[in-house]
Amino acid sequence: MTQNLADTSRPAADATAHEAGAGADRGWWRDAVIYQVYPRSFADSNGDGMGDLPGIRGRLPYLRDLGVDAVWLSPFYASPQADAGYDVADYRAVDPMFGTLLDADGLIRDAHALGLRIIVDLVPNHSSDQHEWFQRALREGPASPLRDRYHFRPGKGGNGELPPNDWESIFGGPAWTRTENPDGTPGDWYLHLFAPEQPDFNWDSPAVANEFRSILRFWLDMGVDGFRIDVAHGLVKAPGLPDLGGADQLKLLGNDVMPFFDQDGVHEIYRGWRKILDEYPGQRIGVAEAWTPTVQRTANYVRPDELHQAFNFQYLGTSWDAAELRAVIDLSLDSMRPVDAPTTWVLSNHDVTRHATRFANPPGLGTQIRTPGDRALGLRRARAATLLMLALPGSAYVYQGEELGLPDVTDLPDEVRQDPSFFRQAGQDGYRDGCRVPIPWSGTEAPYGFGPTAGGPSWLPQPAEWAALSVEAQTGDPTSTLELYRSALAVRKARPDLGAGTGVEWLDAPEGTLAFRRGSFVCTVNTTGTPVRIPAPGRPLLTSAGADPETVDGQAVLAADSTDWWAV
Ligand code: GLC
Repeated sequence: MTQNLADTSRPAADATAHEAGAGADRGWWRDAVIYQVYPRSFADSNGDGMGDLPGIRGRLPYLRDLGVDAVWLSPFYASPQADAGYDVADYRAVDPMFGTLLDADGLIRDAHALGLRIIVDLVPNHSSDQHEWFQRALREGPASPLRDRYHFRPGKGGNGELPPNDWESIFGGPAWTRTENPDGTPGDWYLHLFAPEQPDFNWDSPAVANEFRSILRFWLDMGVDGFRIDVAHGLVKAPGLPDLGGADQLKLLGNDVMPFFDQDGVHEIYRGWRKILDEYPGQRIGVAEAWTPTVQRTANYVRPDELHQAFNFQYLGTSWDAAELRAVIDLSLDSMRPVDAPTTWVLSNHDVTRHATRFANPPGLGTQIRTPGDRALGLRRARAATLLMLALPGSAYVYQGEELGLPDVTDLPDEVRQDPSFFRQAGQDGYRDGCRVPIPWSGTEAPYGFGPTAGGPSWLPQPAEWAALSVEAQTGDPTSTLELYRSALAVRKARPDLGAGTGVEWLDAPEGTLAFRRGSFVCTVNTTGTPVRIPAPGRPLLTSAGADPETVDGQAVLAADSTDWWAV
């Protein structure tokens, strides 16, 4: 697996010779395990306390050895970092804090040489307020032709002192900020569904659509294998930007189609992008970050002529409960089958409390939690949840550090927090920094190999207990979470039935447990806090519980909160 996947002279079919399991002939991405790198927090090569591209490049062999197929990089573009890089000032430049375009090129090449694909983040819903277009639109005043590339509107009220409509920002407060005219008088308002530093693009403007087609080509020409599309559901707004008619709009997000989210018009954009992706060899893909009211609506983003994958946030939000898990697994598989797209599975990312901490707390607290809960319980369930996820058909996402069993850091002091929503009154809870703490690699002193020198800085402090959770500390320890991930990914590679197909065959199982077959493989899950006996389904392959299940008289004892893989 040493081919350079960026070599665009290869025909597409040849470029897929990558070992992606049984799905490879239909697309490497159908059963790929994709690892999310959050560049600020992965590895810092120059000791400034901030992760960077050379740091990631140096750690690629770790990811190859872990056994993932592709790496998704959160944004590393030129950005004032008002929202940790999801506020892009120049879509074709690397922010100096992360390195240079040359570093990006080297990273892509090295990854390909190791058999890893690279997916970059694309942020098309909004730019940074420091983007040249927005700055010009402000500078040139209401007559500027660039105003049409964003949503500028006069305010309501006698003097335009009220926002143009009642939309609320996801990060809290109104989704509108008033501008000042070049002569210093109060001016129009502009729309920002997130922070005021993130003005929303107007996707009715041909200039915006053209620009993003060109940005796609820029990165495809650089050799990237795909794009994770940020806020893919937000680009098109309902005509006339109608009022929603109520407050507390964040609470409605999961349930209703909003005038600013999941509008049917977004699909035309992705049909156009699919054509561009298909022009390139090697199966370049698009992955939608689309928060929609239902999995059926999520499936619309991955119709055959649109994107390839969409995150399964319904799965991410499911509690550690056998019946709920089975229901969401069935629903997810059933809704993707008609559009012939793989189901995806994800437990953690940079926007939610890590699953080791979610499962340590009582259910129903949502995805941003401030209490550590019962750590041992959380880790036990997290390991079991991972083995379940990796046994399901489709593609799985792993967020950096979950392979170390990292918990969320729930006690970060307020003064180190950077999540923009933490500083606003309402909106999202704003505790996302807890899952963004830099990775511990080695050693006994912070930053635990994240940066080059012991005692050096890291942009968020790491807890003292993380020395014991470092890659170095866990490597070679068969009971460690890191070795569990390595073994699971190795088994998944060796047994392509795990990721292949579009369904699972459920087997009878006692309450609180799940059992399903996939070819010559069975997965059993015990979500209860007590051991459960079942007829032994076969030969144990891998367990999340630390020791293979005891088998007595043909009966296997599934440990509390555990998942087992069996060969049958
Ligand atoms: C997405 C990103 C999140 C960011 C938001 C605004 O949801 O995952 O981190 O804050 O978009 O760009």
